[in-house]
This record gives sequence, C-alpha cells and structure tokens, in this order.
Amino acid sequence: MSIPTPHINAKLGDFAETVLMPGDPKRSKMIAEKFLEDAVLVNDVRGVQGYTGTYKGKRVSVMASGMGQPAIGIYSYELFAFYDVKNIIRIGSCGSIDPELHLQDIVIAQGACTNGFYASQYKLPGTFAPIASYELLEKAVNEARKSGANFKVGNILSSDTFYDDAQSGLDWCKMGVLGIEMESAALYCNAARLGKNALCICTVSDSLNHPDEVMTAEERQESLLKMIEIALEIA
Ligand code: HPA
Repeated sequence: MSIPTPHINAKLGDFAETVLMPGDPKRSKMIAEKFLEDAVLVNDVRGVQGYTGTYKGKRVSVMASGMGQPAIGIYSYELFAFYDVKNIIRIGSCGSIDPELHLQDIVIAQGACTNGFYASQYKLPGTFAPIASYELLEKAVNEARKSGANFKVGNILSSDTFYDDAQSGLDWCKMGVLGIEMESAALYCNAARLGKNALCICTVSDSLNHPDEVMTAEERQESLLKMIEIALEIA
C-alpha cells in the first residue's frame, strides 16, 4: 500500500507523531480551531477532517475516527502503518457502567474488552487482551490529577452495538468494567500489531446505571474541554 491511502489523502509528513482522535469530524475541526496554532487541513476524504498544527510549540494532529471498530480500525491502521504516526489518543464519549461514575466524569481506558471480533484476524490460539500504552496512560493519569477532574482508570467495553437487543452492557459491571464505547479495542489491537502507542480517554456522556441523569450543553462542553486539554498536554 502506498500514500495516499484509500481513506487519507495526505502526504508523508503531513501528520505529527501524535494524533488526537475524536469520533466526530466536527469535533476535530473545533479542536483545531480552538486549541491549535497554524492548523492546516491535511485530510478531508469522506469529510473525515484531519488537521496538523502546534500546541504550546509542539506539533500535533487531530483527525476524526468515525464511529465503531471498523472505522477506527481503518483510520488508525493507515496513520500508524503508512503515515509514520507513533501515538494515537482517542478522545471520545462513553456510557458509564460503573455505578460510581456520573455524567462529565472521565474514564481512562487501561484496557478494552469487546463483544466484537476485530482480533480474530490475528489467528491467535486464545483471547488477546487489548491494552493502552503504559507511557501514555501514566501521563494521562498525571494530567487528569492535575486538572482536578473526577476520573477512573480501568477496563472499558468496546461494543459493536449501540442499540443492543440484549441490553447486555451492564452485564460487564460484575467484571469491573467502567464504561461502554465503540472503538478502543480495535485501536489498541492496531497499536499492538504495529508496535505503536494508543490510549483512549472518554467523558461520560450517558449512564447505564443512572439513566435519569442529564447534563446541560455547558456541562457537556466543559467536560469535553477538560478531556481535550488532558490529551493535548500529553501529546
Ligand atoms: N453505548 C455505546 N457507545 C457509547 C455509549 C453507549 O451507551 N455512550 C457513548 N458511546
């Protein structure tokens, strides 16, 4: 495979070593406009916006992943394998499974369980445990402590179903899983397979245990900005 790839129309060197990866392309644009200096659009294939700029003098990129493991599987693979990207930090949202977590809290995903079969491609004689880069994890924990955010570190579930007929999300509570999202396990698998670093940080946007909790648009924005700042500080 050569550059440009089927899904990224950028030149080698257009991306920084570290890419922040929200799910939503509009969020990628917002981060570039609000946080990066001299941000340049480096990808817009399928509207999946990628920008490179600087944050506190350090070159950093931000590009959206889209939703679900197949989507982040494609984008993170192409960035790692063909664009020399070394670190991908997913900044997303999750539903909380752990009853101690509430809206706006932050979950740092040390590991990612899944009900999907992304790792079956490796034909391993057992079950692979997708984990975050320890180096990125440690930095994120330090930054989260400094930020004063309410956060937990542990396992999350990367689910292939948002609308789950069996409503099985809370079943993972008995194994201490903190939250549910849809991308991290595939991202961690790609990082492992390609010898790169990945981390997922999520804000709790909905709660499986406390479905009546709601947050205002300002609260949503505030928790989002806190997570983005944590990710940018470790980039
Ligand atoms: N399920 C799956 N993915 C999610 C959720 C959820 O409840 N909330 C945010 N991402």
